[in-house]
Amino acid sequence: MEQRVILSGIRPTGILHLGNLLGAMRHFVELAKDPKNFCMYFIANQHAQTTGMDPVSAAEMQKELLGIVLDFMACGLDPNSDNVLLYAQSSIPETSELAWMLSCVATVSELMGMHHFAEKREALKTGSDTASTGLLTYPVLMAADILGPNAHLVPVGADQHEHVELARSLARRFNNRFGVEHFRIPELLEGPGIRVPGLKGQGKMGKSEPKGTLSLHDSPDLIRTKIKKADKRLPDNLSTGEKSIEPRIEDQPGIPEKCRVYLLHALACNSAAEEMEIQFGCRRGTLRCGDCKHMLANRIVDMLTPIQERRRELNAQGGEKLALEILHEHGKRARAIIAPNVQAIKELTGIPTY
Ligand code: TYM
Repeated sequence: MEQRVILSGIRPTGILHLGNLLGAMRHFVELAKDPKNFCMYFIANQHAQTTGMDPVSAAEMQKELLGIVLDFMACGLDPNSDNVLLYAQSSIPETSELAWMLSCVATVSELMGMHHFAEKREALKTGSDTASTGLLTYPVLMAADILGPNAHLVPVGADQHEHVELARSLARRFNNRFGVEHFRIPELLEGPGIRVPGLKGQGKMGKSEPKGTLSLHDSPDLIRTKIKKADKRLPDNLSTGEKSIEPRIEDQPGIPEKCRVYLLHALACNSAAEEMEIQFGCRRGTLRCGDCKHMLANRIVDMLTPIQERRRELNAQGGEKLALEILHEHGKRARAIIAPNVQAIKELTGIPTY
């Protein structure tokens, strides 16, 4: 049976959050349950260097990396399963060689146009920029992660779609230029991908906005407090209109599709019936906003509690040692898959190892 290669990564830049769980991790776990999938999941520690290249970041990152291996397991991924590899990006040095070759196929203008770099462009004009070259070439390394093992499918949240699109373009361009079908064109998971908004403000939920972020390790009390204080208005870029509007005025009927709390319910619900209950309650004005937030907090506490319990069990079983063993073993196996492919590409492009 030819298995589908599923590939994705997470940066070790802080404790994982609800955005990572809903946008990525829960898909990782589901996909790994199907033996027709061969799942290659990694911790993108080289990508983390684009925003932290100093001794303090180096030490923090190594600790976080082990924690993320344990979080993968706590979320339900079984690293003993035959169809799962869980490794560190840095265990595959050949990926950096491939990134170099792909950087000779990618153009500067397409990299400068990527959204992750957009906010840096203004700073570049004024000469006040501190963005590293690594941040500019970040998507090329990501393309190498994907194309190295010739992945079929890349499950990621909406914020990473543009990067996967670049990997697809580079694969096509390379194949055309060399007149071969060397790279498979990787697919995204169907649908637009999920973008979990932060609890506050305009951004997506992310590690850089702690007040608006629900960490996988937050206590039930902290989750309840954060959700109580959550904004209801959607971030403008998630609102279908130009500017977001107030979704509910006092106990008037509300507009659930304009409400951040409803959106979070919809993303976290287990069934359409649960989602409908919230939607109708809001629309009819029978579900008060305070109660709606309370229900959301309960939903998220129920989702995170088993993960936190499992993580505590793993810690008690000598978690970090276990994580290191997995990284060593799986890193070797992943490298054995990726290195021969990179070698073949080196030969094809005229730079064999003499
Ligand atoms: P990272 O570490 O920022 O995020 C890891 C995964 O979590 C998803 N995610 C979200 N999804 C929905 N809503 C959010 N608020 C949210 N925040 C994070 C991300 O979309 C991602 O799927 N560059 C990648 C790591 C990477 C990678 C790769 C991924 C490196 N190489 C190759 C796929 C394939 C990153 O920084 O993800």
